[in-house]
Amino acid sequence: MQALPGGDIKATVAIVGCGIVGTAMGKLLGKADYHISGVVTKHLETARRAAEATGAEKFSISPWEVTREAKIVFITTPDDLIESTCMTISEHEGFEKNAVVIHCSGALSSDVLSSARDAEAMVATLHPLQSFASTDQAVSLVPGSFCTIEGDKDALPIVRQIVEDIGGILLEITAEKKTLYHAAAVAASNYLVTLLHLALELDKAAGLTSNTSYEALLPLIKGTLSNIGEKGIPGALTGPIARGDVATVSSHLDAMAKDAPKLLTLYRCLGLYTIDLARAKGTLSKEAADKLRALLNISEEK
Ligand SMILES: NC(=O)c1ccc[n+]([C@@H]2O[C@H](COP(=O)([O-])OP(=O)(O)OC[C@H]3O[C@@H](n4cnc5c(N)ncnc54)[C@H](OP(=O)(O)O)[C@@H]3O)[C@@H](O)[C@H]2O)c1
Repeated sequence: MQALPGGDIKATVAIVGCGIVGTAMGKLLGKADYHISGVVTKHLETARRAAEATGAEKFSISPWEVTREAKIVFITTPDDLIESTCMTISEHEGFEKNAVVIHCSGALSSDVLSSARDAEAMVATLHPLQSFASTDQAVSLVPGSFCTIEGDKDALPIVRQIVEDIGGILLEITAEKKTLYHAAAVAASNYLVTLLHLALELDKAAGLTSNTSYEALLPLIKGTLSNIGEKGIPGALTGPIARGDVATVSSHLDAMAKDAPKLLTLYRCLGLYTIDLARAKGTLSKEAADKLRALLNISEEK
């Protein structure tokens, strides 16, 4: 572990908010020989259990009681409490000078920790680019997952070291662009679920059960992911839009208008976006693209 500001070699860590991510961070950092000095949650019983799980010396429901002597403070409360929790700690003079205060939200930048900056601490974010349903899952998935960081210049070397120590893969971003980065993660993860739901609903309208539909679609999904890995985007795009098969797309719209009208808007939006990909791939003529745009209800912009 690298030397911290102030010359300390062994970093003491306080964790405020010991749910899935906070407890997992405590366990992973403990394994990497960081000293977990204290843990804090809303309920004392949760804090006691988190202290047992992470080997923390202290547990409390008053954050400033455990953050005061820590060189590194993780604020891993729900997103909408990060800013106010940081402010409360600052108001109680709970940050050491030059401590590094970190939150793990993907949506928020380090700017929500500005009250800690005002208290002469440094601020940063470390977002594990993963979805965790439990602490055990987080402990096993963080190593090998990308961990995205941004923050104060002097805090970054310490946060980079943390990512390395917990086995993450480093990805760096700026605070200004973090919202777009998070929108990308939402598109890749949450909207993938939405997309699959669209497919299952269409199969349901075709008379298939969702179990059968999911089993049947899964090899297609895996094959597509593998094609994307091999050929990239738009190279991996296949299907009626890539081929300029206007009649097939038209028949989809007719069938959906009859049996699944609620799904038409999303199908049309995705189709329009796909026309641009097919044009970029080079397999869709301008003429066929124009016909598809008209069908899907938008005119091509010059
Ligand atoms: N879960 C994921 O998949 C994931 C992935 C990447 C990043 N993250 C980020 O990680 C952070 C934590 O998420 P999580 O999933 O670990 O949430 P979580 O499981 O809901 O845990 C939140 C914890 O915060 C505690 N808490 C609530 N109010 C508090 C307060 N006022 N003071 C101190 N502690 C308080 C809760 O304590 P009690 O248990 O006592 O109520 C709970 O233990 C968030 O910023 C989230 O965006 C989550």
